[in-house]
Amino acid sequence: MLPALFVLAFAAAAARAMPISKPHELVVWRPEITYPTQAVEWVVGTTVNVTWDTSDMPPDVTNMEGAILLGHPDERSEHLNTTHPLAGGFSLADGIVYFEVPEVEERWDYVVALLGDSGNISPTFRIFSTYDDAQVDAQIDPEADTAYEE
Ligand SMILES: *[C@@H]1O[C@H](CO)[C@@H](O)[C@H](O)[C@H]1NC(C)=O
Ligand SMILES: *[C@@H]1O[C@H](CO)[C@@H](O)[C@H](O)[C@H]1NC(C)=O
Repeated sequence: MLPALFVLAFAAAAARAMPISKPHELVVWRPEITYPTQAVEWVVGTTVNVTWDTSDMPPDVTNMEGAILLGHPDERSEHLNTTHPLAGGFSLADGIVYFEVPEVEERWDYVVALLGDSGNISPTFRIFSTYDDAQVDAQIDPEADTAYEE
C-alpha cells in the first residue's frame, strides 16, 4: 500500500513543472530493518551489517544521514546507546551499512535502531564475546534460553 502511494506521489510531483521548490516539509519515513532478524548472533570484533528496505523511500526525505544505535529494550526504555553509535555518517538511501561489533557485554536481547529522518527498531538478537560462546549456544535447547535472561 505505502510504496504504491509514494510512487503515485512522486509521479504526481514529477508531472508538475520543474523545478520543484516546495516550502520545507518534514518527511517522515520509517525504513523497515531487514537484517539483523530475530535470533541473529553477532560476535564482538567481527564485521557485520545492518540492512533496511529502501523501496518505499520518499523522494524528498529531509535528513538523509543515518545512524545505527545499539539498545536493549525493557518496559521502561529502549536503552539506546546514543553516545557511541555503531555506525554513522552514511546515507539512508544506501540500504546497508557495515561496521565492526564493539566490545559490549553479552546479551540476548539487543536491538539496533536506524535513525535519520525517523527511527526504526530491529527484532531482538544476540551478541557474543567469542565464536566459542556462539557455538556453545547452538547446541543448547532453545527452551533453555530463558535461563539466560537476568
Ligand atoms: C549481511 O550479513 C549477513 C550475515 O553475516 C550476510 O548473510 C549477508 O550476506 C550480509 N549482506 C551483505 C549485502 O553483505
Ligand atoms: C555505549 O557504548 C560504549 C562503547 O561500546 C560503552 O563504553 C558505554 O558504556 C555504552 N553506554 C551505555 C549507556 O550503554
